Amino acid sequence: MSVKFSRDVKKQSKILTYFLCAADGKHVDVTGLQLPGVLDDIFAYTGPLGAVFREDSVSLHLWAPTAQDVSVCFFDGPAGPVLETVQLKESNGVWSVTGPREWENRYYLYEVDVYHPTKAQVLKCLAGDPYARGLSANGARTWLVDINNETLKPASWDELADEKPKLDSFSDITIYELHIRDFSFHFAGVDDIKSNWKFVDECKLATFPPGSDMQQEAVVAIQEEDPYNWGYNPVLWGVPKGSYASDPDGPSRIIEYRQMVQALNRIGLRVVMDVVYNHLDSSGPCGISSVLDKIVPGYYVRRDTNGQIENSAAMNNTASEHFMVDRLIVDDLLNWAVNYKIDGFRFDLMGHIMKHTMMRAKAALQSLTRDAHGVDGSKIYLYGEGWDFAEVARNQRGINGSQLNMSGTGIGSFNDRIRDAVNGGNPFGNPLQQGFNTGLFLEPNGFYQGNEADTRRSLATYADQIQIGLAGNLRDYVLITHTGETKKGSEIHTFDGLPVGYTSSPIEIINYVSAHDNETLFDVISVKTPMNLSVDERCRINHLASSMMALSQGIPFFHAGDEILRSKSIDRDSYNSGDWFNKLDFTYETNNWGVGLPPSEKNEDNWPLMKPRLENPSFKPAKGHILAALDSFVDILKIRYSSPLFRLSTASDIKQRVHFHNTGPSSVPGVIVMGIEDARDEKPEMAQLDANFSYVVTVFNVCPHEVSMDIPALASMRLELHPVQVNSSDALVGKSVYEAATGRFTVPRRTVSVFVEPRC
Ligand SMILES: *[C@@H]1O[C@H](CO)[C@@H](O)[C@H](O)[C@H]1NC(C)=O
Ligand SMILES: *[C@@H]1O[C@H](CO)[C@@H](O)[C@H](O)[C@H]1NC(C)=O
Ligand SMILES: *[C@@H]1O[C@H](CO)[C@@H](O)[C@H](O)[C@H]1NC(C)=O
Ligand SMILES: *[C@@H]1O[C@H](CO)[C@@H](O)[C@H](O)[C@H]1NC(C)=O
Ligand SMILES: *[C@@H]1O[C@H](CO)[C@@H](O)[C@H](O)[C@H]1NC(C)=O
Ligand SMILES: *[C@@H]1O[C@H](CO)[C@@H](O)[C@H](O)[C@H]1NC(C)=O
Ligand SMILES: *[C@@H]1O[C@H](CO)[C@@H](O)[C@H](O)[C@H]1NC(C)=O
Ligand SMILES: *[C@@H]1O[C@H](CO)[C@@H](O)[C@H](O)[C@H]1NC(C)=O
Repeated sequence: MSVKFSRDVKKQSKILTYFLCAADGKHVDVTGLQLPGVLDDIFAYTGPLGAVFREDSVSLHLWAPTAQDVSVCFFDGPAGPVLETVQLKESNGVWSVTGPREWENRYYLYEVDVYHPTKAQVLKCLAGDPYARGLSANGARTWLVDINNETLKPASWDELADEKPKLDSFSDITIYELHIRDFSFHFAGVDDIKSNWKFVDECKLATFPPGSDMQQEAVVAIQEEDPYNWGYNPVLWGVPKGSYASDPDGPSRIIEYRQMVQALNRIGLRVVMDVVYNHLDSSGPCGISSVLDKIVPGYYVRRDTNGQIENSAAMNNTASEHFMVDRLIVDDLLNWAVNYKIDGFRFDLMGHIMKHTMMRAKAALQSLTRDAHGVDGSKIYLYGEGWDFAEVARNQRGINGSQLNMSGTGIGSFNDRIRDAVNGGNPFGNPLQQGFNTGLFLEPNGFYQGNEADTRRSLATYADQIQIGLAGNLRDYVLITHTGETKKGSEIHTFDGLPVGYTSSPIEIINYVSAHDNETLFDVISVKTPMNLSVDERCRINHLASSMMALSQGIPFFHAGDEILRSKSIDRDSYNSGDWFNKLDFTYETNNWGVGLPPSEKNEDNWPLMKPRLENPSFKPAKGHILAALDSFVDILKIRYSSPLFRLSTASDIKQRVHFHNTGPSSVPGVIVMGIEDARDEKPEMAQLDANFSYVVTVFNVCPHEVSMDIPALASMRLELHPVQVNSSDALVGKSVYEAATGRFTVPRRTVSVFVEPRC
């Protein structure tokens, strides 16, 4: 059977479900065609979409090539009755209508008559505008707003480019990942109408025991009706989420989001938005959370060869390999960059998006200029989760935005290699697997991870992986490995056989040990370290992990609360666990450890492991621990920003200047020694970067005991403890000693010591 496509796809689409009949005329099977490729060939469109405002008119444009009819239904206000219905005219797959400027500020929905393959019939659906710039509560209607209207701008909004914090190089960035209920956009799962919200009785929950299952029961009972949800269930990408605005209808979402960006910029922070383009909350002809699929059914979602929607991203995956999906993503990013002056974007499951789309997005954003758009696009930073799995794995749908594929693009990806080496195991493995920083070989936790020789080798393997990460995870950084071989980063492998180093530039790596996904850093440490370890030692380990990220080449990334020992009571996925488990206490009274067993759905399997820990009072930090952790964290960031040597901006600088000692088969286990050199008498040919220091040496000692080692290559220098560390409130840090005669470094247990060679 062959089908000839013409521009009349909208009529043909109706017959694109084939019923295979047996000789007796009974249906034995049914099949359908997937149309996106045809639509792209015939109807790819680059003209205006959404609302276009002119002095005395407004026009609306909707891409809907398979639709048979499209009207716009105007309403009297966000909840009022229909005012009028106006038909749109189609040309080359785009439906348009022009009306008077008075249409501005009306609420509307499109009424689309279109064939829905999932229902095998033509249906009339009401859908929001994919290019919506304003919405009513819960996205029920699109608000026809001119985003450039002066009344939507906070004072001095147009001049915000002048107030942005300074950023010379992306390698100067440090990222702090925060989800507060006041920072997000339009997604499903939280009612925009605050009077509908339910809350747990926190006073009552606080009386339950720390290892009880009663808290989670109360939280879960109302989890769909409370105001908490991470928001990874997008409905419409282009409008901020109404539940965070003082009024979900009308202008508040826009004005208040802009005020937020402006306020953050004014306290010296640039603002990154987490964008979730890889999936949609919903599809199909029904429901308020389905928008795109009501307009061009089947086009925006990605399907398998049987026509089933791919759902490896946990929802209805989108298909950026389709022309108009790619276009919508890039247009949407421009919307946020220009209309909200966002400084960077974090791409959820970037590996599920095509590399082509990422590259187009980067180019489009970088072309923004202060003169033309009020935004300096060259300062907008992009990074994402470059995981390579499921239907996009091995480039099955085209070259995707996976870690290795993004090398050389200047776009960052999360470094799971350093995360897993520092913490141990991985978020999918046994929670008791230890890592470089959590006691592997050095302080076994009783869970069998091989004999002593095995664990010693694993520890050394992890050390190699961490050193590559500290060197920007460059694919061709050369290291002497624990076996004594000289290897490039890309030739060193993880336990799963993946290359460790894969970047071409330090700005392509996001070094992290914890993020909103999975357990917090403190919780990971509390699970993996031996039961009988003191909380003081766990706090030291927490700081060591943060220090490794802070002093790495590349872009360090911290989960909000790493610096104050944040706990979620070991919840491994708290996206819908309410304020109770997600609490971030900036009064420093508590770190939220032991507020009950975390919700059963994702955690129950590990409750037996968690319960004795949550119930054991020796695991719970006191206010003093939290304040000390914060103090040390601030110090380590001060150190990062005290010298450009910690923030090298090019691969060649890293290869030339960063050197590891204590490497090879005879290295002392649990100790990493990193030297970074600048121009000095011995190296006159090297360009000088640091006015104050000619050399820095950082020693990470994760051992539960002091170490003392001679490093002849670092003898006869004028190294002294970094001035910030001389003042450290951590008494152990001050006991770090360097002796020039033999190049001897003495570093107390579980301590990072930074030595510098002052220029004068
Ligand atoms: C801006 O918005 C206000 C309030 O909705 C409206 O009265 C005004 O006409 C708009 N101005 C322009 C220039 O569109
Ligand atoms: C797609 O979304 C619908 C809701 O609209 C849901 O019922 C369905 O399970 C999702 N499909 C996949 C494959 O996740
Ligand atoms: C992306 O492509 C890589 C490399 O070809 C592949 O292994 C990976 O599975 C893909 N990622 C996804 C999410 O499909
Ligand atoms: C994409 O990544 C895969 C491994 O994930 C690699 O084999 C392939 O060569 C990469 N392709 C490009 C074009 O970078
Ligand atoms: C870690 O987080 C990822 C992303 O949310 C999730 O897929 C995974 O299941 C989590 N791992 C565990 C052990 O919960
Ligand atoms: C913890 O227990 C192990 C095994 O019983 C023991 O070797 C170790 O000394 C104990 N550590 C502490 C800090 O008490
Ligand atoms: C060098 O030290 C001076 C004085 O402490 C300080 O002002 C300057 O910022 C430092 N230079 C660098 C590159 O950190
Ligand atoms: C260390 O503390 C002393 C005394 O409080 C202070 O004068 C000095 O500026 C501090 N140095 C640094 C680098 O913070």
